[in-house]
Amino acid sequence: DEAPQAQIERILAIKARFGDRLLLVAHHYQKDEVFQFADATGDSLKLAQIAASNHTAEKIVFCGVHFMAETADILTSDDQTVILPDPMAGCSMADMANSYQLTTAWQALTAQYGSSIMPVTYVNSTAAIKAFVGEHGGVVVTSGNAPKIVAWALQQAKHVLFLPDQYLGRNTAMALGVPDSAIGLWNAQDGRLENPGDYRVILWNGYCSVHQQFSVAQIDQLRAQYPGIKIIVHAECKHEVVTAADAYGSTGDLIHYIQQAPKNTRIAVGTDNNLVGRLIKTYPEKRVMALNPYSCACILMNRIDLPHLAWTMDQLAAGKPANVITVAPQTAQWAKKALDRMLALS
Ligand code: 13P
Ligand code: SF4
Repeated sequence: DEAPQAQIERILAIKARFGDRLLLVAHHYQKDEVFQFADATGDSLKLAQIAASNHTAEKIVFCGVHFMAETADILTSDDQTVILPDPMAGCSMADMANSYQLTTAWQALTAQYGSSIMPVTYVNSTAAIKAFVGEHGGVVVTSGNAPKIVAWALQQAKHVLFLPDQYLGRNTAMALGVPDSAIGLWNAQDGRLENPGDYRVILWNGYCSVHQQFSVAQIDQLRAQYPGIKIIVHAECKHEVVTAADAYGSTGDLIHYIQQAPKNTRIAVGTDNNLVGRLIKTYPEKRVMALNPYSCACILMNRIDLPHLAWTMDQLAAGKPANVITVAPQTAQWAKKALDRMLALS
């Protein structure tokens, strides 16, 4: 029940006391009440790069979701502690692939394709999935580097298993020239390939509950209402949505598009509405709007709020860090292989 102002002042005071020994990072989808404290902000790729290159912070307060904090823990050294202000801040897409399902898929697919298949996982996956991928010669991608890294994977292997996001996988593969007929779909719940065949890319059937809500009808409606409007969407949107948009990419790519657009351009953005709201305020000279003002922000990202952050900082100040995210060494070691391959290729 404490007043927000008191929480804000405490967070600032604790940050000042720690100085460089504490790094607070925030993903673009974080609420403004949390985002305002960030020493660094970014998309998943940038935040992973920041974690990998920071050697001074003893404590990293990660305002994002669980898989991002796990990735930071894997990429930082053992004496750096990663803290997620609410450990319940997960990612529904990351939860759509577990180790049992992946082992089942791998057995079936290697029985069919032999060793000519490479696993590629979106960073929105658990550390255990990244470890499996690392151990089997595969690589991690983010939405910011997917085209480059999937192109590399397609050069290395005759077949690619892409998980967990079927839409990012399809958007990326088709942009690289893989035809629809060469893309298969793995049904993770039933443990089988839909319409068995000889596919170049096999997609896992996961998706993002926020981004799958955007539709071509929303795009058509805005184009009819505002002739000349530009529509940009996140790469996790459905293929027909990405195709109907003017541009798509990671959160970092969407921000970059707005920064580069001429003054007064009207731009509708299809992504989490915490980010869209911030873009509207930050770039008043561009007429930014939400592709769907009724679509929600990511409820999992939203779990990190001012009270959770203030409590986490209090625990740190008291010398009792809470909500520490630690990936088991064996898992971390293999997951790091897949992440390091990604960072080297990015
Ligand atoms: P970015 O890597 O584009 O920031 O995306 C993260 C995410 O979870 C999108 O839903
Ligand atoms: Fe996961 Fe979707 Fe939320 Fe991103 S927006 S963290 S993919 S549930």
